[in-house]
Amino acid sequence: MSSVKQIGVVGGGQMGSGIAQVAAMNGIDVCLFDVDPRALSKASASVSASIARFVSKAQLSQSEGADALQRLRFTSNLEDFHQADFIIEAIVESEDVKKRLLLQLDKIANSSAIFGSNTSSISITRLAAATSRPHQVIGMHFFNPPPLMKLIEIVRGAQTSDETFAATKALSERLGKKVITSQDFSGFIVNRILMPMINEAFYALYTGVATKEDIDTGMKLGTNHPMGPLQLADFIGLDVCLSIMKVLHAGLGDNKYVPCPLLVQYVDAGRLGKKQGIGVYDYRKDSRSANS
Ligand code: NAI
Repeated sequence: MSSVKQIGVVGGGQMGSGIAQVAAMNGIDVCLFDVDPRALSKASASVSASIARFVSKAQLSQSEGADALQRLRFTSNLEDFHQADFIIEAIVESEDVKKRLLLQLDKIANSSAIFGSNTSSISITRLAAATSRPHQVIGMHFFNPPPLMKLIEIVRGAQTSDETFAATKALSERLGKKVITSQDFSGFIVNRILMPMINEAFYALYTGVATKEDIDTGMKLGTNHPMGPLQLADFIGLDVCLSIMKVLHAGLGDNKYVPCPLLVQYVDAGRLGKKQGIGVYDYRKDSRSANS
């Protein structure tokens, strides 16, 4: 495939909006779609604010910032993706919903277009099998927040072609990211290791080993992590963490992946993390610190 000229991003939440921003900041025209118009307005506002921060820190010039915004288009019509040569989905972490979307995209998109999924844990092989182009489907897993995090984990499904892999790697490097490659096993590399740690931090809190602050401080200062596992879970989204634990449990079959009941309860209660204003910590009382 020749160099990507137009990217379509589906899902304008935390990840999709950031992915669209990264593409626009690296000179590629992007169209961002979401089923929810409120998500589109929120995405537009957060991308503008983030680009303004890059400009104020002199990481982008005024004109580069303005050019990036010019390259971004927001749409409520998926048909607008018919010309995109690379489509990245970053919608809710549900296999059924993602498969339904891929089926729709399969009909709309150019036959040469590649579909990248930002899934954190779902089988790329199974997502690919829902389309008529399984060799053009690949995992392209960004990290949160995409404009700042330097990594993309590329996941090869069983049928992903070498051409699709090469095009995805070239695009990732054009976006300024370091690439790692994973085979298609639940959780891939990073979440296979990270999520059981986060789940264990929930068990430590659930069983009264320590306070949330001490669990986070312990892991920050004791293992040199930039943030503690419970705070990180809030940043990722507790619903996303729970979905990933369920995928690890179903896919790897070991009881060590059973989601902690406290994590389940927080999600049931709508405590989804920072994006909701409350998760393990309460961000509504004081936006400068995560106290509860
Ligand atoms: P989010 O909840 O912030 O955003 C999801 C967006 O998808 C929402 O705006 C929703 O309206 C939209 N959506 C849902 N169904 C849709 C459909 N059928 N068509 C179009 N839009 C639809 O979720 P987030 O955190 O951005 O996660 C998205 C994906 O990225 C998930 O697969 C997640 O596992 C993955 N991911 C998340 C990371 C994180 O730290 N939150 C990190 C890396 C990957």
